[in-house]
Amino acid sequence: MNVSLRAPDRAEAGDRAEFRDAVLAGLARSPRAIAPKFLYDARGSELFDAICELPEYYLTRTETGILTGCAAELARLAGPGCALVEFGSGSSVKTRLLLDAMPDLAAYVPIDISRQHLDATAGRLRRDYPLLRVEPVCADYMALEALPVDVNGAPRLGFFPGSTIGNLEPEEATSFLRRARTLLGDRGALVLGVDLKKDPQRLHDAYNDSAGVTAAFTLNLLRRMNRELGATFDLAGFAHDAWYDPVEGRIEIYFRSLWPQTVTVAGRTFTFAEGERVHTEYSYKYDDAGIAALARSAGFTIDRTWTDPARLFAVVYLEAAL
Ligand code: TRP
Repeated sequence: MNVSLRAPDRAEAGDRAEFRDAVLAGLARSPRAIAPKFLYDARGSELFDAICELPEYYLTRTETGILTGCAAELARLAGPGCALVEFGSGSSVKTRLLLDAMPDLAAYVPIDISRQHLDATAGRLRRDYPLLRVEPVCADYMALEALPVDVNGAPRLGFFPGSTIGNLEPEEATSFLRRARTLLGDRGALVLGVDLKKDPQRLHDAYNDSAGVTAAFTLNLLRRMNRELGATFDLAGFAHDAWYDPVEGRIEIYFRSLWPQTVTVAGRTFTFAEGERVHTEYSYKYDDAGIAALARSAGFTIDRTWTDPARLFAVVYLEAAL
């Protein structure tokens, strides 16, 4: 775990070794895969923010609309004095809707893997919410067993927006939610944003934007390997590849080799056939029954569900089942 208390240079060396080991193992495996969290270096986080503004990427806009409408009710359900814990906080843009509706929070605990993003965001929030206690945690929330900051026994309200739950495979999603259930405690609740199943073309377009930002986001991983691991990926020789699989109910995202080629990564050589793919991410889409099953499997009950009129996206309020 990469907690903020570690010296920055040691943390960075540790992060780099983790990245190298993960990439070498992922490229040696068949089929090849690199975990999605490595997409989010500083540049990747910026590109992801740009994805959220794209006309085709309806998720952020729709979820923001739903949260704007339900924030007051969420605040009532959560009650006063809770600690808001966000898993993968990024720029905390949507969080502001909750912060505005909950002026009496005990603390806001953003958890994010990108140190730079976390520090910049925490700085902006402290400036804009001078009365709010902001306790950033630099960590991989998938590996976090307990909160490393003291929130003085305040009831905990988790926030996991952006359909990030959909980036986990179903078993991982269940085990993450179980850990969140433990971390949030018996008086805890969780606000979850989930992208819903819909017309496959609409889904396809959201991950294949015409401006090519999503492609740049995927290919930034190759840049990162070149920069941090001394890899020799030719950026022109690989393409972003994403489509919706209606049987699995998920978008599958890869980078694909455009011709046969050899790449060196951290001193090791990997051969790519023409058309060979490296998996970077899934984005699972849920329906009501799927959300209910997921909640139940992790020890939560669904208290409320809000959607937009077109039912593109859902925001769900889960309570710890006792
Ligand atoms: N949580 C986002 C989603 O599933 C992540 C995401 C959006 C993403 N666009 C992407 C991940 C493109 C990889 C590539 O929609």
